[in-house]
Amino acid sequence: MTLPVGVLVSGRGTNLQAILDACAAGRVDARVVLVASSRADAPAFERAARADVPRAVFDTTAYGGREPAQVAIADALVRVGVRLVVLAGFDRILCDAFFERLGPIPVINIHPALLPRFGGRGMVGSKVHEAVLASGDRESGATVHRAHPGMVDEGEIVVQGRVPVMPGDTPESLAARVLEQEHVAIVQAIARFAEEMSPTRR
Ligand code: GRF
Repeated sequence: MTLPVGVLVSGRGTNLQAILDACAAGRVDARVVLVASSRADAPAFERAARADVPRAVFDTTAYGGREPAQVAIADALVRVGVRLVVLAGFDRILCDAFFERLGPIPVINIHPALLPRFGGRGMVGSKVHEAVLASGDRESGATVHRAHPGMVDEGEIVVQGRVPVMPGDTPESLAARVLEQEHVAIVQAIARFAEEMSPTRR
């Protein structure tokens, strides 16, 4: 059975694109059934439109606050039957009510470093790569992990992909190398959940 996936985005959406491409090419037995964005003008949202995937916006004004907006999105995800929620560059902390409404549906997040190092509040965008370079670590990578209420960049690791830190790396060059690995890792992680759902595994 094809795994129905909901993806939450906020920005450029290259991870979403990797997921859409892998689904379209049959490299993973999954289908994106809803893309929800914290910003209506996110390029990720346009990628979803081009792929003809149903879309929703976390409109906090329309719903009268962050929590009701998140609850509405969780309800929409449940309504369309998602069996996995992917946070792919989603820039908001999700409230407990969001997870409660999803019930047993797992949520995964992609982070551009080898967690548990270089995670947590404030560790976003180029700050992550700056911290890796400042640490002197010889490798970095991408981590896909389970997301739970009240936790940021914590939770069971599903997939990690490693890349070397090269002499002369800048935050930008390291970010680009890690991003390629993110696109592989996120698809591998979804494939794991799809395999778990497949009838042959039951
Ligand atoms: C990625 O680096 C991801 O690890 C982080 O946000 C970024 C999103 O990039 N959580 P994109 O929008 O998928 O291109």
